[in-house]
Amino acid sequence: MAGSVPPAPEFGETLPIEASPEVVAFLAKRRSASAMALTAPGPDDAQLADLLRLAVRVPDHGKLAPWRFVILKGPAKEVFAEKITALADSQANPAKANAALRKLTRPPVAVAVISRFIEGEIPEWEQRQSASAVCHQMLLAAAALGWGANWITDWYSYDPRATAILGLAVGEQVAGFLYLGTATEPPQERQRPDVAAITKAWTPA
Ligand SMILES: Cc1cc2nc3c(=O)[nH]c(=O)nc-3n(C[C@H](O)[C@H](O)[C@H](O)COP(=O)(O)O)c2cc1C
Repeated sequence: MAGSVPPAPEFGETLPIEASPEVVAFLAKRRSASAMALTAPGPDDAQLADLLRLAVRVPDHGKLAPWRFVILKGPAKEVFAEKITALADSQANPAKANAALRKLTRPPVAVAVISRFIEGEIPEWEQRQSASAVCHQMLLAAAALGWGANWITDWYSYDPRATAILGLAVGEQVAGFLYLGTATEPPQERQRPDVAAITKAWTPA
């Protein structure tokens, strides 16, 4: 299943910019798996450590690492899901909130990516964007290693009681739950935007 991950480069090591047709082909077809279609096995501790090491290789203005991870797996994930489920009936749309929980309960492993904000020169917007980059890099890395992965927020990323259960501190936000596992069915291509329609060359007024 999972491919091997090369060791981290040494600090200061020269890292040439090289074309990678294999990566281009991968990106041209990359898709998320459905969280509902993720089953065991998921990544084990060593595989998860490799995955997170790849995920944090993202642009990060000021080298602040304005993010952290909470791993949900095994019996602890079940307890977390029980506590979140207890909040579903008090949501604006209880049926929808309960249905959404299948995405939480089915996959064997989840990584909650927590966006932090560090006071200083770097704007909050940029720190939050870096957390999004971590989420997407994790999606890419997981897929490249052969795992199914899905980036989900759902209501429990925003309900203050749910984020307290997750252990968020003041100033922290959930960037996403990255659900990981073995995809039981391959995803199909989804509609993609018309890039030309949202792109123009700037011209002076
Ligand atoms: C920040 C963020 C939050 C998302 N939250 C949800 C969600 O709560 N529920 C959902 O069904 N999809 C959610 N999605 C969309 C899924 O990740 C979706 O499967 C994905 O966009 C599929 O596109 P892809 O195959 O190109 O990766 C979210 C996407 C992003 C970027």
